[in-house]
Amino acid sequence: MNDELARNLNNALLRCSNYYVDEKCGRFNKMYPFTTENISGYIDYFPLKDHSLLTVGSSGDQVINAIDKGCTDITLLDINPYSRYYYYLKVASLIIMNIDDFRLFLRFVDYPKKFQDNYNVFNKELFNKVTNELKFLDNDSYIFWNKLFSNFDPLLVREELFSKDESDDKSLNLFNSYLNSTNYKELKDKLEYIKPKFITGDLFLTEIKQKYDNIWLSSIGPFLRSFEKIKEMTDKMASLLNDNGLLLISYLYATTKVTPYESDYSLIYDLEKIYALLSDYQVELKTFLGVNFNSWNPKIIQDSILLCRKK
Ligand SMILES: C[S@@+](CC[C@H](N)C(=O)[O-])C[C@H]1O[C@@H](n2cnc3c(N)ncnc32)[C@H](O)[C@@H]1O
Repeated sequence: MNDELARNLNNALLRCSNYYVDEKCGRFNKMYPFTTENISGYIDYFPLKDHSLLTVGSSGDQVINAIDKGCTDITLLDINPYSRYYYYLKVASLIIMNIDDFRLFLRFVDYPKKFQDNYNVFNKELFNKVTNELKFLDNDSYIFWNKLFSNFDPLLVREELFSKDESDDKSLNLFNSYLNSTNYKELKDKLEYIKPKFITGDLFLTEIKQKYDNIWLSSIGPFLRSFEKIKEMTDKMASLLNDNGLLLISYLYATTKVTPYESDYSLIYDLEKIYALLSDYQVELKTFLGVNFNSWNPKIIQDSILLCRKK
């Protein structure tokens, strides 16, 4: 077993044992089981077919949706070291299982119905169906999950390593074109041969050598507590763009260009200040059907992405 896998596995075993996880074991949040953003709403703004993409996203959904759109050169940069192992578990499940088993294996919160969590999540029978494919795709990922599922109740693994921030099926189908049944079958072939690159690290601290046509930073922006940090992130990532490259600086929930800024919002939502801060770049907002977190009180919401090009 290589050192990186041994460190990550030990760290995950500690998390599942509920031991205190100190800084040496990594300061990173739980993984997202699925995206919480309407990726379908913005994906077509980006030229992905035969172009390159650098993205964050521990759910793997950004990568899988990009592959679905014909992107072949993809790097997943994420501070969460388990992202690679989850990506391959999800991909092996997509390749081997039908869509119903895929949901049964990976969905948890409010599945199959609202207020009924899925106690079959990560169930061993379904895991056994994907082990050969998982070994073939990435043996480290097989070792990682096999060890965790052998040592702990899979339900506990789900609770300790994954966020509870999980949308309902209707929303996930909207966000992820790969979950619609026609794409789902075609996608299996593409997923077998496209090998994303994985970089584990903090984007502020990690040296990245490649240049990209597209970069997606998901919703890291709302977690940044100063305009200096937002500028630092934008400068660093824009410097990795090819000419004519596109940077998704941030996903903005329930926001359009006329949404008034309230003082308790994250700074990235203060669009007037953001445009001034990033005046070295061509910045624009693209708006689309948004995420409705409050599904028992349905209303039409619009989300946006903050897009940036070099001038
Ligand atoms: C803020 S989270 C939001 C997830 C998102 N809503 C989605 O749909 O995937 C975005 C991802 O960025 C990662 N992340 C957060 N801060 C990071 C950093 N400084 N460097 C690299 N990745 C980071 C997290 O691990 C997570 O997978």
